[in-house]
Amino acid sequence: MAISVTPLHPVFVAEVRGVDLTKSVDPAAFADIEAAFHQYGILVFPDQPVTDAQQVDFSAHFGPVITATRYHRDAPERRVPDNISDISNIGPDGNLMAADDDRRMHHKANELWHTDGTFKHVPARCSLLSARELPQVDGDTEFADMRAAYDALPEDRKREIDGLVVEHSIFHSREQIGFSGYTEAARAGLPPVNQVLVRTHPATGRKALYLASHITHVVGWPAEKGRRLIDELTAHATQPDFVYRHRWRANDLVLWDNRCSMHRARPYDDLRERRVMHRTTVSDEINSVERELPERAAG
Ligand code: OGA
Ligand code: MN
Repeated sequence: MAISVTPLHPVFVAEVRGVDLTKSVDPAAFADIEAAFHQYGILVFPDQPVTDAQQVDFSAHFGPVITATRYHRDAPERRVPDNISDISNIGPDGNLMAADDDRRMHHKANELWHTDGTFKHVPARCSLLSARELPQVDGDTEFADMRAAYDALPEDRKREIDGLVVEHSIFHSREQIGFSGYTEAARAGLPPVNQVLVRTHPATGRKALYLASHITHVVGWPAEKGRRLIDELTAHATQPDFVYRHRWRANDLVLWDNRCSMHRARPYDDLRERRVMHRTTVSDEINSVERELPERAAG
C-alpha cells in the first residue's frame, strides 16, 4: 500500500500514514518517505507503538544511528539502550526526578530553540522522537522551518550572512538557563566546534539558517555584534509563520531534519507528571564548514 502524506502547516511538516514502523520498511516505501522528508523537513507518524529496536531499525534507513552522549558520567545506569536518548523526567529508580537532578537541568535547556548535535564536529542529520508516556497538560514540541526563514530574509541580509562561520558549544545553551554542573571530563569530551551559519541541503539544494541556542559567537566578529545578529536571526526564524506546534498523542513518532529546522520543548509540570520520549539520532557525514566552506575549515 502506498503511503499517504498530508501537510500539517503551510510551509513544512506532514503527517505520514500507511506504513507500519513496527515492521521492516521496504525500499519502495522508504523512497516515498524520504522524498516526503526532503520536501517537508518534519514528518509525523501517528500510531507507531515501536520498541526501541524497531525505532533504531527505522532510523538506520537515514544513516548511522549514534550512541547517546553521557554528560553525567557518574550518574547511575541508563534506563534505555546506548543508542537511545532518554528524553524523560524519570530517574533510574523509575520515579520522577528531583528538582535539582542534574539530568533534569540538562534537559530543561531543550526549552530553548535549538538544533540537535550542532555542538559536535560532525553534527546530527536527523532525529526521531517517539512518545511513550505523555503528561495530561502541554509538553508539546515546537518546530521552526529554517528554509522558509532564510528565504524570507532581505537580499542584503542573505549576502551578509552567507559564508559566516559560528562556534557552538552544548555548555553555552546550558549556561543560559543557569546550569553549569558538568565534570571537566564531560567538558573536555565536547570542545566547541565551528559550523556554517547558512547551509545548503544536499538533497534539495535549498538554503537554510543553521541556528541553535548552542551558538557562542560569530567567528571573526566582535562578540556583541555577533550576539545581536544571532538573536535577530533567531527571532526572525521563530516567528509564528514559520512555526508548527506538535501536540503529542501516545505512539506518535516524529522525524525532523536538523539541517533545515529548529525545535524546542514546551514546559510541563515535570515535578508531578511523567513524560517519557525516546530519541534516536542519525549522524551527518561531515562537519558543515568542511562541507560547505572547505577553505575555512580548521586544520
Ligand atoms: C530532543 C528535544 C524536545 C521535547 O529530543 O532533541 O529537543 O519536546 N526534545 O522533548
Ligand atoms: Mn532537541
